[in-house]
Amino acid sequence: MTILVTGGAGYIGSHAAVELLNSGYEIVVLDNLSNSQTESINRVKELTGKDFPFYQYDLLDRVDIESLFEKYEFEAIIHFAGLKAVGESVQVPLKYYHNNLTGTINLCEVMAKHNVKKLVFSSSATVYGNPDRVPIDESFPLSATNPYGRTKLMIEEILRDLNVSDPSWRIAILRYFNPIGAHESGRIGENPSGIPNNLMPYISQVAIGKRDKVSVFGNDYETKDGTGVRDFIHVVDLVKGHLKALEYINKNEGVETFNLGTGTGYSVLDLINTFKSVNSQEIPYQIVERRPGDIGVCYANPEKAEKLLGWRAEKDLIEMCKDTWKWQSQNPNGFE
Ligand code: NAD
Ligand code: UFG
Repeated sequence: MTILVTGGAGYIGSHAAVELLNSGYEIVVLDNLSNSQTESINRVKELTGKDFPFYQYDLLDRVDIESLFEKYEFEAIIHFAGLKAVGESVQVPLKYYHNNLTGTINLCEVMAKHNVKKLVFSSSATVYGNPDRVPIDESFPLSATNPYGRTKLMIEEILRDLNVSDPSWRIAILRYFNPIGAHESGRIGENPSGIPNNLMPYISQVAIGKRDKVSVFGNDYETKDGTGVRDFIHVVDLVKGHLKALEYINKNEGVETFNLGTGTGYSVLDLINTFKSVNSQEIPYQIVERRPGDIGVCYANPEKAEKLLGWRAEKDLIEMCKDTWKWQSQNPNGFE
């Protein structure tokens, strides 16, 4: 069974590639390398001892996508490719709408033409906007507060419309909470370009000495220590959810949406302190103003995924911190 992995050179996609190969799937990876390097592909091959085709193609180029579908018989697509920086999406919204929406529409059109109708899509907990309460389940109202989030929301709706028009589509929409951590080997991990937007890569760059201190965005939220609370999930647990989703859509038609989170919220200071003690690294930090657009508390109710997919996150915050540091300390400059 050959699976096309779009965005497979990226952070989550490369971990998914390892898991798929180790589980006996054949894969083909497509990525335009706009936010990744071929070295991640080399590392996936090294880690698994398996070879697979990689194409530096852009989802905006339909001719290239077509050529892949003519060459391979895909069983399903796992679609990670997309731009994901919230702040940048506010600055250049058209780039985000064009890349994320047009890329997905191109992909789905080519899939339909070749009668390949199984899709696993990377959505985000950002589609819950500022939720009234926690834990968040899949039936909560949806909204978006920035163009990036709106692309996820719009793609979810496009996929639902697609299924109304042709119920033989089988689509799993996976709403990720906060993926962190790295493969336990330390060979692949998150490799942000420039100044990290997200908390964990920032912490690990402070630990390695690339940045002076973490700015903690606000300590006046209604949480135990005043700092923001999130559902941090180990990237390897997260990608295992995709394999379960593949099995699910093999058996079931229709569109189904799943939260992928642990169900437990930890604060910004919990993460800093755990990283510090697990890895014996000093992590200086300073409390600063809230970051505009941030919400206080966000964590999942992951029961639906447990019930329908038979999936549950297993790794704890200690493993997330340990594996992040293994990756960062062995690769101080990422894949460069
Ligand atoms: P990433 O940037 O590391 O990976 C995305 C990959 O897609 C990159 O390698 C990039 O080069 C590629 N890409 C982008 N546009 C493309 C295009 N037009 N054609 C071909 N390739 C293209 O990001 P990630 O963290 O691995 O995220 C994967 C997916 O999960 C994204 O869709 C993201 O929005 C979603 N997601 C991520 C998080 C997170 O915190 N990391 C949270 C929720 C959802
Ligand atoms: N934070 C800091 N300092 C930093 C970075 C973050 O204090 O330097 C805080 C934030 O204020 C927040 C928490 O750490 O309270 C987590 O922030 P991240 O930026 O790591 O993650 P977010 O929850 O803001 O957003 C992430 C992704 C989004 C995605 C969302 C839900 O960046 O794309 O999770 O999945 F939509």
